[in-house]
Amino acid sequence: LAQRNGSTEQPTTSATDMHKQPFVIGVAGGAASGKTTVCDMIIQQLHDQRVVLVNQDSFYHNLTEEELTRVQDYNFDHPDAFDTEQLLRVMDKLRHGQAVDIPNYDFKSYKSDAFQKRRVNPSDVIILEGILIFHDPRVRELMNMKIFVDTDADVRLARRIRRDTGEKARDIGLVLDQYSKFVKPAFDDFILPTKKYADIIIPRGGDNHVAIDLIVQHIRTKLGQHDLCKIHPNLYVIQSTFQI
Ligand code: ADP
Ligand code: C5P
Repeated sequence: LAQRNGSTEQPTTSATDMHKQPFVIGVAGGAASGKTTVCDMIIQQLHDQRVVLVNQDSFYHNLTEEELTRVQDYNFDHPDAFDTEQLLRVMDKLRHGQAVDIPNYDFKSYKSDAFQKRRVNPSDVIILEGILIFHDPRVRELMNMKIFVDTDADVRLARRIRRDTGEKARDIGLVLDQYSKFVKPAFDDFILPTKKYADIIIPRGGDNHVAIDLIVQHIRTKLGQHDLCKIHPNLYVIQSTFQI
């Protein structure tokens, strides 16, 4: 810009601009497709980097007393079930080098625990995981890499039944009713249409070691480019103009 305007003044970069931008990865896919498993595997392989996982579940709206009495009628798979504005505020802070407190969501009480928040520090890599994490364009725009975990519907249902009747101690009849009334339609209407935004589609989730190895290699390459900007301060100006 300075050159185009004929000015000799050098562009200045504030301390906030100088902050190294984290590499943001989005991981979407149907419920029980293996998103968390894939994220855990990526985090494990990136053991020498500072990586944080942010779950979309943490941003579920709290239910009103009335909604709580009729919880079987509540659609947890609709985009409106999430407080996306709060997610955006959290991401803004993390990207500007500030620590945040993220609520823990309790699937048994259907409540975010305001007292049991998890402190998340700014990191080199932020992984955003959730069924509808590609739904809002403002959240998508934050991502440097988008992964969709693609697992067959029967496998997802079988895992869900096992998980919800086991660790969540729910009644199997209610689990099946919720699946046909909300989970399956929302997958078809809201989750599957976001697959087109993915850079990488992983069939078979955590069983796909080849895909996970390739993803980790790519992240390492990109982090190397980030580090160049850290080593050579003059490159910060360039950093803001190339898309990672
Ligand atoms: P999501 O985060 O998409 O809901 P999870 O990774 O939590 O999915 O997996 C859902 C359930 O399926 C969990 O109980 C998990 O242990 C199980 N699971 C995930 N991946 C596999 C796999 N490859 N083989 C067997 N079980 C799996
Ligand atoms: O971890 P996972 O991606 O599977 O979580 C999303 C699923 O959790 C959704 O399909 C939603 O129906 C379910 N859910 C639930 N009860 C809640 C909140 C979410 O069954 N209180």
